[in-house]
Amino acid sequence: MHKQLAISLDTPFKQEVFEGLTSYPKFLSSKYIYDKAGDKLFQDIMNMPEYYLTNTEYAIIEQHKIQLAHMFSRGNQPFHLIEMGAGDGKKTKILLRHFTEQNLDFTFRPIDISQNALDQLQINLKREIPRLRTEPLQGNYFETLRKLNFNTEERKVILFLGSNIGNLCHEEAIDFLSQIQEYMQPEDLLFIGFDQKKNPETILNAYNDETGITAKFNKNLLVRINKELDANFNIDCFKHWEVYDPETGTAKSYLVAKSPQKVFIQALDLHISFKAWETIHTEISQKYDDRTVQWLAEQSNLTVIDEYSDPKQFYKNYLFKKSY
Ligand code: AVI
Repeated sequence: MHKQLAISLDTPFKQEVFEGLTSYPKFLSSKYIYDKAGDKLFQDIMNMPEYYLTNTEYAIIEQHKIQLAHMFSRGNQPFHLIEMGAGDGKKTKILLRHFTEQNLDFTFRPIDISQNALDQLQINLKREIPRLRTEPLQGNYFETLRKLNFNTEERKVILFLGSNIGNLCHEEAIDFLSQIQEYMQPEDLLFIGFDQKKNPETILNAYNDETGITAKFNKNLLVRINKELDANFNIDCFKHWEVYDPETGTAKSYLVAKSPQKVFIQALDLHISFKAWETIHTEISQKYDDRTVQWLAEQSNLTVIDEYSDPKQFYKNYLFKKSY
């Protein structure tokens, strides 16, 4: 007898997996790559020689820390240094150390959804920069920014590093930036890292390394669906594929079925089939130029007030304020 399964799409993960894998063409959101294994693979990516983004942004911040201290503190006025998605804070620590050595009057306020990530960061910071004032904020970016906006008179300097903005399409990026500026006062600043358009080969190599770390990172989406939603994807039957369009600046990641596949996702009571070479689009990593950043800013009621780059112009950090 056929037993009717009561399946409820009771989490965003289930809803999005269901929607993405029953659509044509199929898609999945890259945000679900990041479980414990995905976080570790991303750490490995950041240490790869091909993935120039991390080291380049590190070098830009190191090179411009004196100027940034001046821009952020306006001659030692107090401010909150707010970091969205703080991670291990490796790049931010350059600023935290320098600002502390300069006796700037500031409080570091990392925002993260994970209390565990914040606790770890705070323990490390206590050990490495004991004089630093840290007040972590657990929660969603916008809720925490809204609370801060109402509760403080002091200037807010918001950091969004790592070209994380590149994982949003332009429409989503405008929506994201527009929401941030809603929680900014006229004197507040926003400092964001944008990976730049460059030789397409350099970009493809960064997202398609020979050692296969990025392929493993991308495939972690399927590993996670297998683990958390009781599915039976055969991971080896999918190929990581990267394309880059030098006109639009969009790098796109796919998982491509190498042969016809049938998969069952028990937690969704869902059978899916793949034709040979059928795709799942998993991630975009947008690359920018000045004109595009300018346009994004205009669309989001922001004004670019300064920019910082490396000698090869591989990457740029822009400083924005609210337009009005
Ligand atoms: C987190 N994000 C900015 C990375 C990027 O470059 O898009 C994620 C990544 N995907 C593949 N490699 C790294």
